[in-house]
Amino acid sequence: MRNIFLTGLSGSGKTTVGRILVQRLNKPFLDTDALVEAACGTSIPSIFSRHGEDYFRDCETRVLARAASTVGGAIIATGGGIVVRPANRVLMKEQGERIYLQVDPATALERLHAQRAAALARGDTPEIRPLLSGPDLLASLKALLSARSAWYEEADFNLSIQDKSAERVAQEILAMLIGSGKLDAVPPITRHIRVGEGYDAVVDWGGLGRLGQYLAQLRLPPRIFLVTDSNIHDLYTPAILQSLSRAGFEPLLYSLSAGEASKSQHQLNAIYDWLVERHAERREAIVALGGGVVGDLAGYAAATYLRGVPLVQVPTSLLAQVDAAIGGKTGINHPRGKNLIGAFYQPRLVLADPATLLTLPARERTEGWAEVVKYGMILDAELFAQLEANADLLRDFTRPPAELLCRLIARCIALKASIIEEDEREQGRRAILNYGHTVGHALENVAGYGQWLHGEAVSLGMIIAAAIAQQAGMIAEADIIRQRQLLAALGLPTAYDGPVQASTILAATQVDKKVASKQVRWIMPQSIGEVIVSTMPGDLVERVISTFFSPAARSFYGETIVIMLKIIVMHGPNLNTLGTREPAIYGTTTLADINAMLQKRGAQLGAAVESCQSNYEGGLIDYLQQHANEADGIIINPGALTHYSIALRDALAAVKAPVIEVHMSNIYAREPFRHHSVVAAVCQGHIVGLGWRGYLLALEGLVNLVQEHIHTHTEEEKQ
Ligand SMILES: NC(=O)c1ccc[n+]([C@@H]2O[C@H](COP(=O)([O-])OP(=O)(O)OC[C@H]3O[C@@H](n4cnc5c(N)ncnc54)[C@H](O)[C@@H]3O)[C@@H](O)[C@H]2O)c1
Repeated sequence: MRNIFLTGLSGSGKTTVGRILVQRLNKPFLDTDALVEAACGTSIPSIFSRHGEDYFRDCETRVLARAASTVGGAIIATGGGIVVRPANRVLMKEQGERIYLQVDPATALERLHAQRAAALARGDTPEIRPLLSGPDLLASLKALLSARSAWYEEADFNLSIQDKSAERVAQEILAMLIGSGKLDAVPPITRHIRVGEGYDAVVDWGGLGRLGQYLAQLRLPPRIFLVTDSNIHDLYTPAILQSLSRAGFEPLLYSLSAGEASKSQHQLNAIYDWLVERHAERREAIVALGGGVVGDLAGYAAATYLRGVPLVQVPTSLLAQVDAAIGGKTGINHPRGKNLIGAFYQPRLVLADPATLLTLPARERTEGWAEVVKYGMILDAELFAQLEANADLLRDFTRPPAELLCRLIARCIALKASIIEEDEREQGRRAILNYGHTVGHALENVAGYGQWLHGEAVSLGMIIAAAIAQQAGMIAEADIIRQRQLLAALGLPTAYDGPVQASTILAATQVDKKVASKQVRWIMPQSIGEVIVSTMPGDLVERVISTFFSPAARSFYGETIVIMLKIIVMHGPNLNTLGTREPAIYGTTTLADINAMLQKRGAQLGAAVESCQSNYEGGLIDYLQQHANEADGIIINPGALTHYSIALRDALAAVKAPVIEVHMSNIYAREPFRHHSVVAAVCQGHIVGLGWRGYLLALEGLVNLVQEHIHTHTEEEKQ
């Protein structure tokens, strides 16, 4: 693409829109009015008053020529009268794309008044534009428009800006440039996918503008059944329909409401009706132009209409480009579950144009990174590291790096292709692509479609899957921290904040398609770039999910490490007086200090620590009976009760979780009546004489013990 010339009346938003375009296209921004002022060293009104309009126009023509010769092209906002001179019109026609921002004079005037008010509010002196200085500004604007409109309309694109935000106008300009093939090219990357009859997946920056050429290579009949959604329709279809017609095709268009709710039986039937009414034939192709919703739905229509018609996937969202459009899974949702109805159906071509991501809303772009991180986690440590190195750039998407984007998307496609070539129908290895999806799908189902975007739900699902793997001792803590940090750096959620209950999620995981003989098969990471498929102990899964969806855990997920285990610490009689009680023996550390230290260390180890203190034997026993079932481990300092409380001993004996007894002083070095513990016999361990450190040691020991137990249990399950 050469230059982009923005033309139109004063007040049409050329400068604001130009500055937004700069964020999306790697080109400098120039404003001819500002360049004239800089060249003449004075303001436009003073140039007019001192030298007259002709002098100004000469100057304007010179700066326009200079701006247009910017190496690599520029985005150039032009003065409202630039079109008056034929030489300027010729130059703009030859050296770039002319985009006319159409605005009616009344709206232009409103905008000029708003600009003036904003300038006054800033303390600036607003400039009166020389040609708008008469008593009736509206009449002046109308006169200018009627004199210039024929010249403005010579533009390559005429765009009404009425009632549109500057962001929206910029989005429409980008879509026009992309859809008409005007972007600077980056060499396309093609991966031939050897499934079925084989087909190409092409990553081509600006390739949407070449859709006609790509379709021509497939030797399809002229009628093309283009299915898209309402958002894409408004942005892209005018340019695409034109380019398909130019390539000799007869495009027919079906547009559905954007959003997950359209992946329904009702919408599918509507597409069948449309095809039947137009007598669509078996050799005629359906082109799915849009995100994963359009791809899945139109893909399923293509798979089933007349028992299968040619399908071309033209994914326009990041998620669809790296995942949904690749591999032939098509389908719709059932009220009881996502994607429950569908078919494997391979397309004849996938054309992914990463430039379309320039118009994708930020949230939808961000969700797509979840699937890219997924590929890194399951298959490619190098891709993962590349994402880490570029996370800020990718998240921010200002001046997006075209080549890097193409390479990343092509890499994901190649990774997915390598899996589906081995296992098209998910009989084995393909299941690893579902990493993070068991809980992700469950969350999407129970929260209602559209509440959580697919990628957002998968991001949380990956956090949970990794936590289960970590608790089972399958993956190092450092790796799960890297995963969480990368997801967060890309703007994805890593903690849940909403009303869904853990029990609902647990029930929903059972409906997921990856349930094998009533046991969920989890995709468990072992390190970055490596996963295995395994069933996992139900109690471990339950605990991880319960903790993740409990309000208490949320802050921990966002910050340090995933909290999974629950450890109860029980302090017996007199421990509430720590700090003042016999400091020579017990030290000056208070009970509150000890509890805080335990909490902090617990967070580092992945354990939620809950403490209680009672001066009564019955109080401790009641607490044990009420809470021991939820605990993975118990630390108890029974105080003097240890020497005689058979009742406490019996209560501890009934507990399933491991118990460690702690005494701050060395009871064996003290009075003989302190040497005997009736409790010790029912505990796994006994730590004495280390002061408050004894508690921390007990906590570390318990966490190790429990993790070892979980790991052994998992290994047994695997065999
Ligand atoms: N078939 C598979 O293998 C597979 C894999 C992963 C996900 N999926 C499915 O994909 C769907 C999610 O895909 P999605 O995130 O693309 O959702 P989507 O299709 O709803 O697209 C997201 C939003 O972005 C808009 N949009 C898309 N491209 C745009 C563009 N270039 N410019 C402006 N707006 C644009 C859409 O109109 C929509 O509003 C889910 O239904 C999921 O189940 C399928």
